[in-house]
Amino acid sequence: MPTSAVGKLSVSPTRTAAESREKEQELKKESRKTQNLLRGDLANLSFVGKPSTLLAKCWEIFCLFLISMANTILIGMQWGDEGKGKIIDVLTAQADIVVRSQGGNNAGHTVIHRGVKYVLHLIPSGILRRGKICVIGNGVVVDPVALVAEIDGLHKLGIKIDKNLFISSCAHLVLPYHRILDEQRELRRGRIGTTKRGIGPAYGDKAARTGLRMSDLMQPIVFSKKLQAKIIENNRILQALGAKPISFREVNESYLAAGENLRPFVANTVVYLHRAIERGKKILFEGAQGTFLDIDHGTYPYVTSSNTTAGGACTGTGVPPHRMDRVVGVMKAYSTRVGEGALPTEDAQLTQRLHSLGREFGATTGRKRRCGWFDAVATRYAGMINGTDELAITNLDGLDHVDPIRVCVAYRLNGKRLDVPPCDACQLANCEPVYEEVRGWNTSTRAARTFSKLPAAARKYLRYISELTGAKLSMVSVGPARGETIVL
Ligand code: GDP
Ligand code: IMO
Ligand code: MG
Repeated sequence: MPTSAVGKLSVSPTRTAAESREKEQELKKESRKTQNLLRGDLANLSFVGKPSTLLAKCWEIFCLFLISMANTILIGMQWGDEGKGKIIDVLTAQADIVVRSQGGNNAGHTVIHRGVKYVLHLIPSGILRRGKICVIGNGVVVDPVALVAEIDGLHKLGIKIDKNLFISSCAHLVLPYHRILDEQRELRRGRIGTTKRGIGPAYGDKAARTGLRMSDLMQPIVFSKKLQAKIIENNRILQALGAKPISFREVNESYLAAGENLRPFVANTVVYLHRAIERGKKILFEGAQGTFLDIDHGTYPYVTSSNTTAGGACTGTGVPPHRMDRVVGVMKAYSTRVGEGALPTEDAQLTQRLHSLGREFGATTGRKRRCGWFDAVATRYAGMINGTDELAITNLDGLDHVDPIRVCVAYRLNGKRLDVPPCDACQLANCEPVYEEVRGWNTSTRAARTFSKLPAAARKYLRYISELTGAKLSMVSVGPARGETIVL
């Protein structure tokens, strides 16, 4: 629309009579449209029966309430590896469906059950519980070869995967040239410290509208044709970077074979999820990575390439915001980060202590995680972005013999106190934490199964960091196993 036309409708102070009539008619049309929309909504409501009496109306509202209390988004409140896998596994007991909405096999979610350690990368952690359905949503980037390997690995551990997994036909594919490009970029200045799984380049292709999707892989002729063009283009880039070109024939063969393996799982997951919601099924949206690795809200450029925050659960699955009922934020009792980028509360002594206990090694790459004190500036901001209703605090036992314990309550930058993290990476790197010290508890918390069984100092610490974050504490984890959990 030309700008002058916009100006005429909205700001012209001297409207003619004809223009006024036109405007009035436009408004009437709009109002009719709104009424039709509302009628449409009421028609949708009548799926539980036409409300003829007050009782029926109440029942209808109650049914909607039951359905609307069903869906939970679980997200990481820090820099990833908060213990989401463990909490998902616990919460799956109350869910029917567990859905991944973003990220790819950069994620590593650890679940320990009956002494067996499972590390999930692409498959939702809910797969470990019998009778639960798992969905890989449209927002996930899927490396089909890695996914087949993950399915095979789980089979070997006795986990059945057949009718309990769906993969969105709209999910984008990670291809070998994505991985090599990722590796090549990591050799150069300005490295991010990625997992080298090709995640950034795959999302790059998606945003550039040049990506291949699961639906392409399901049509071998279409896939091969598109792949050939992509490999010709990417081989030029790889050669310019000094990397070896890749063979179309080899990639084509291995991807088509993986595609055939995955064919039974590929579906329109949007329709599946919406029908499930209509039938009152409870859905758990499994976040990967953490708030400060979010492409928009994280410590850019030291982030991953997807929306790891609560909004990503909607775009990455096609389930609208009004169907989401609660957001559970998972955070460690301290902070960790793997890869480059600022971690304002990083502490060498705490890092060494946790590593010497055999803790804080990456689940995907095995890299040592950097460790630091609990950062309430970060988690408060994460609470804001995600609308966190409830908190699950993990790894409390990591602080069992640490005394005193420091908590970052603000940052100081150029002599000024900050209560929210700055957007700029250099500024964040220059922030100095303002600490408060609290008493440690100097005893093991591993055996506690109720909140009251925790030492008083641990209870005080948990309440303190929840209050600083601004959400209700609902779960505490005192060990990696399913049972080592306190539900409040
Ligand atoms: P995720 O990516 O958020 O699922 O987390 P990871 O699995 O990558 O990393 C969390 C690590 O902490 C894993 O090794 C878990 O087994 C472990 N873990 C989770 N909760 C607890 C806990 O409360 N105590 C201990 N000791 N380990 C925990
Ligand atoms: P889960 O789901 C921790 C980090 C990488 C790197 C940055 C970009 O297990 O919490 P990428 O490979 O995504 O391009 O890397 O993000 N990263 C994670 N850190 N946990 C993860 O996942 C991560 N996934 C990516 O270390 O700094
Ligand atoms: Mg992890």
